[in-house]
Amino acid sequence: MSHQSVEEIRASAIQWIKEAGDLIKSHMKKPYEVDTKQDRKDLVTEVDQKTEQFFIDKILTQYPDHQVLGEEGMGDEVQSLNGVVWIIDPIDGTMNFVHQERFFAISIGIYFDGIGEIGLIYDVMDDVLYEGVRGEGAFKNGKQLNPIDPDKHLEDSLIGLNNSWAIPNRKLNEEKIHDLVRKVKGTRSYGSAALEFAFIAEGIIDAYITMRLAPWDIAAGMIIVNEVGGITTRVDGTDVNMLTGNTVICANRAIHHELLDFIETK
Ligand code: IPD
Ligand code: CA
Ligand code: CA
Repeated sequence: MSHQSVEEIRASAIQWIKEAGDLIKSHMKKPYEVDTKQDRKDLVTEVDQKTEQFFIDKILTQYPDHQVLGEEGMGDEVQSLNGVVWIIDPIDGTMNFVHQERFFAISIGIYFDGIGEIGLIYDVMDDVLYEGVRGEGAFKNGKQLNPIDPDKHLEDSLIGLNNSWAIPNRKLNEEKIHDLVRKVKGTRSYGSAALEFAFIAEGIIDAYITMRLAPWDIAAGMIIVNEVGGITTRVDGTDVNMLTGNTVICANRAIHHELLDFIETK
């Protein structure tokens, strides 16, 4: 994609993400419908759906040849990453949105022929925008983020980890996760995958491990973390696939390597 197109698309995306943030805030002033999807812990609200629809209307009016892959399924049935594909989570952290009215984000990854070009994660209530543009760096509210510390090791790190992987579960040997919890300096669980990526880019946590993420949870975060020298793979070290669900490890290269020893899938 030409520099000019990246710049133009980036400017539109930033404008829309801020407008969508205002829209979400205005919806929060009135009651809204809350529903469940796969189970009682998997929430969706009419605000998620309306926000996704807002982006689809904006994107397809201005860029009719782009595709949109959105969590709530209002966009295209994206089968390939050819051309420009916007991968959108209208509210990442819906549980936080409903229960806490904060700690949620809008996540937008913009891919061209499968390569991540622009990543935006907008923490709506704190009005903080994390941004990554391929080859140009990562930014927090316009201020460039430093590369993450390549020499930090697991025993000095704070890692993003959901408790559910430390109790008996179908995917991981939890005993190894207990060893991991003993080894690291601390664990954190923010309830928004997008924000966990943003916090790695910012250097306030050092890694994130999870066994179940969709493309819209990681599309923006991967681009932003890449720009500060972090890497993201599946837990077996292979590349993530932007058209399917993925297991995920994200960290600097040294910690990433160390983490692989603590992951034993069932
Ligand atoms: C969820 C959040 C959560 C993660 C889940 C995601 P949603 O996204 O990112 O932190 O643990 O796996 O599904 O449903 O709030 O968009
Ligand atoms: Ca999500
Ligand atoms: Ca969501």
